[in-house]
Amino acid sequence: MLSHIDICRMNRLMEHNPEAKNIIEQLLQNHQTIVSLISHEIRNPLTLISSSLQLMEQTHPEVRDFSNWDQTMQDLNFLCQLLSELSAYNNGSTLRYQVFSLQKLLRSVAVSFAISLENASVSFRSSIDPAIKDYAGDQIKLREVLLNLLKNARESQADEIVLSASSGCDTSGIQISIRDNGCGIEQDQLDQIFQAFHTTKQEGTGLGLSLSKRIIEAHHGTLTVTSAPGKGSTFTVFLPL
Ligand SMILES: Nc1ncnc2c1ncn2[C@@H]1O[C@H](COP(=O)(O)OP(=O)(O)OP(=O)(O)O)[C@@H](O)[C@H]1O
Ligand SMILES: [Mg+2]
Repeated sequence: MLSHIDICRMNRLMEHNPEAKNIIEQLLQNHQTIVSLISHEIRNPLTLISSSLQLMEQTHPEVRDFSNWDQTMQDLNFLCQLLSELSAYNNGSTLRYQVFSLQKLLRSVAVSFAISLENASVSFRSSIDPAIKDYAGDQIKLREVLLNLLKNARESQADEIVLSASSGCDTSGIQISIRDNGCGIEQDQLDQIFQAFHTTKQEGTGLGLSLSKRIIEAHHGTLTVTSAPGKGSTFTVFLPL
């Protein structure tokens, strides 16, 4: 993975040298295609294996008693999840623009998340400014970002999560923040959490935040975080209008 410094260097080189810009753009395109092809080719047989195992489980329920069955199924699911997140990450900057009601999207995400919390001992509130209207962007990818941030908040062992969205007083953009009172993030980890594959979770792929940042930056926005260890974190998305 290229570091932030390498990306800045590459951007400077591209600004000053049109020929280098052309070659680098082709290389990046090529790289993106290869990652898509590889994940696609691995996903096909993997889906077949997964379906066969599920069928086997249905016809022979006794296999669930095999000592490594559950672990094998879990590992397989993790691999499928990793591949779809890798593919989503790879396509993170390719947006399908449409004009849609951001207000409705935020409300629908809040409802879906609240439903997913049923029976969980965590309280969730949302405060969505009714002044938020239509927005031109990729609705599906923005939904994914919000769900990623909410999922992280949930996994932070918070007992309170708040989603707030406002169109701001200067109307230059829309600010969406997700605050939790969970475990928080150590200062020295803050720089790393947006890097691909950085995770502190046993079942995590570490792609959620890097993908989310990529999507928000493709909308010319920002994704920032403030956090206090032991007290909680706030992730803020700013989308310019
Ligand atoms: N709300 C939060 N509170 C505390 N730590 C967080 C929070 N959000 C992210 N992190 C830290 O940032 C790391 C990277 O998050 P990211 O969403 O990219 O990956 P992940 O959650 O570990 O895995 P995945 O999203 O693929 O399930 C997490 O492993 C966790 O250490
Ligand atoms: Mg995550």
